[in-house]
Parts: sequence; structure tokens; C-alpha cells
Amino acid sequence: MVKIAPSILAADFLHLERDVRIVNDHADLLHFDVMDGCLVPNLSFGFPVLEAVAGIATIPLDVHLMIVNPDKYIERFAKAGASYISFHLEAADEAGKDVSEYIAIAKSCGVKVGLAIDPDVPVERLFPYIPEVDFFLIMSVFAGFGGQKFIEDSIGRIATLKAEMERIGIVKDIEVDGGVSSSNARALKEAGATMLVAGSSVFKAEDPAQAIADLRL
Ligand code: DX5
Ligand code: ZN
Repeated sequence: MVKIAPSILAADFLHLERDVRIVNDHADLLHFDVMDGCLVPNLSFGFPVLEAVAGIATIPLDVHLMIVNPDKYIERFAKAGASYISFHLEAADEAGKDVSEYIAIAKSCGVKVGLAIDPDVPVERLFPYIPEVDFFLIMSVFAGFGGQKFIEDSIGRIATLKAEMERIGIVKDIEVDGGVSSSNARALKEAGATMLVAGSSVFKAEDPAQAIADLRL
């Protein structure tokens, strides 16, 4: 069954505890977006907020690192309570490193390891890492901001990745992030997505619990 991962980037930060508790009761994962103003043109939050959230979350924390040099921070995020950690292939490109190094570090921390790419990175670049990671994160908007419009092309990219996994007989989870709502959830699941990140469509909804249920339909 598909996992729903509401992104607290879209939560009401003055009522963060209330919003985390809503998600606890209805979702499968809590998505936590870390931005450094370098890999992406925006800043968000880091360790102190994650630790506070970890203190009340009853579902696993899914930390999405939109930062350069994630290798420096993976262990601290794991210690702060992350169960899933993803980082971007572009971060390894920028550092001139093989992303396998980052994957190995995350594995040694005992978390589920995810490899993310923005919409302009060829999805085929993920293929060599299918045996190494636990999941892939296909961005369906350019990483950096919540509330953007879903890029339709993402559905085909997910299908391409899923087809390659099936061809080689190693099927991993595919997470999709950005502009996900009940209007595209079905198509994403049919294409092969198994984890749906949803910020605005959950937390800006009048009834977040119902919005989560709608994503499962
Ligand atoms: C964007 C983040 C997303 C964001 C999704 O860079 O990675 O997780 O919170 O927000 P929505 O669902 O509003 O597009
Ligand atoms: Zn995210």
C-alpha cells in the first residue's frame, strides 16, 4: 500500500504540535524538508526543529536533505530521529563525489536511504543505484519551495524508473514530492510511486485528515 508523507513545510508553525499530531493519526511518514540556501535557493529548518518534532511524532520521520555536502550531516540527522534520509544526486555532482559514498554513510547509520533528483536530471542517472538505495525521490517540482505546480512529466519519469527496476528484477520504493494532490495521486500510483509527499494539499486543506484519506483513493 502507498505511504502518505505530509510535508511539515506547509504546516502552521505556530501550531506545529497540533499539526504533527493530526499527521500522527492519519499518515504513514512525516516528511521534513531541510534546505541550505545553497543547493536550493531557500532556507528551512534543521536539527532543533527535528528533535522537537521527533519528541511527539509517532510515525517515522522522512528527512529530505536539500543541502550540499549531506555526508557531513547524515549521522546527526539520524541521531536526531530520522528513519528515512534522502539527499540529492546534484549534491554529489557539485562536490565532485560519487553518490555511493553518501549512500554508504547513510546505510551505516541504519536509516532507509533515498536518492533524490530534480526534474531536470535525467531519470536514467538513477539506474546504477537501484541495488544500493532503499528508495528514490522523484521531485515533481524544482526543490526549494512548497506550493508549486506539479510537473506532469514526472509521471512518465516514475514509470521509466519502475520499468527499469522490473527489468532488472530489483524493485525499490519510489517517492514523489511536489504539487502532489488527490488530482494526480492515482496517476502517480499507477506509474509506480509508492510514497506520496504532500505539503499544501494536506496542511492547507480544511480537513487534513480527509485530504490524507483522499490521497489513498
Ligand atoms: C519542496 C519540498 C517539498 C514541499 C512539497 O522543495 O521538497 O517536500 O514541501 O510541498 P507541496 O506539496 O506544497 O508542493
Ligand atoms: Zn521534500
